[in-house]
Amino acid sequence: MHRRQFIGALAGIGAAGLGYAAEPGRILLAQAQAAPVRRSPDVIFVPTPNEVVDKMLDMAKVTAKDVVYDLGCGDGRIVITAAQKYGARSVGIDIDPTRIKEAQANAKAAKLGDKVRFIEADLFDADIGEATVVTLYLLTRLNEKLKPKLLKELKPGTRIVSHAFDMGDWAPEQKAQVAASNVYLWRIPKS
Ligand SMILES: C[S@@+](CC[C@H](N)C(=O)[O-])C[C@H]1O[C@@H](n2cnc3c(N)ncnc32)[C@H](O)[C@@H]1O
Repeated sequence: MHRRQFIGALAGIGAAGLGYAAEPGRILLAQAQAAPVRRSPDVIFVPTPNEVVDKMLDMAKVTAKDVVYDLGCGDGRIVITAAQKYGARSVGIDIDPTRIKEAQANAKAAKLGDKVRFIEADLFDADIGEATVVTLYLLTRLNEKLKPKLLKELKPGTRIVSHAFDMGDWAPEQKAQVAASNVYLWRIPKS
């Protein structure tokens, strides 16, 4: 291997999170860590129209005491509206780093400080236990896949609202129509 190629490979190793230590005459690779694995989103970004955002938060009866989580937050509009209009602490989770940067820029422009937070993560792995309201705009099959996690990790009484997509055989407590969209509401039972 030529020297330039070797330095380039080393830079790549560093970027991938591999540590190394120099020893006389050789480089010792140490403490190998897995590089963060990024996978593609389960559904593409399509923003919820603002009037539907308002309906979702209205149906969930969000107040300043709530902690709102938008799973697959896109440009952050639901999270930002929940903080701006209702004073709720809000968290957005998205697997796409471009969406997270966009959401952070939108929150900064809205001057919401630490009232809102955006996390780049797979929503199926995220820690959502503190949420008192969860918002979704995914697909029915993703809602159904998420259902066991919602039932396991969320506290009784937590409200879940979904734009457009239901939860299969879990009948909603309430269903409403706004513009051309359906909005569904469920509540985590006492178990
Ligand atoms: C239809 S958009 C909804 C955006 C926003 N919630 C709204 O209603 O305006 C779905 C979002 O989910 C994100 N997404 C898809 N699969 C995901 C996953 N496994 N984990 C986290 N985010 C995901 C996409 O990147 C996209 O931004």
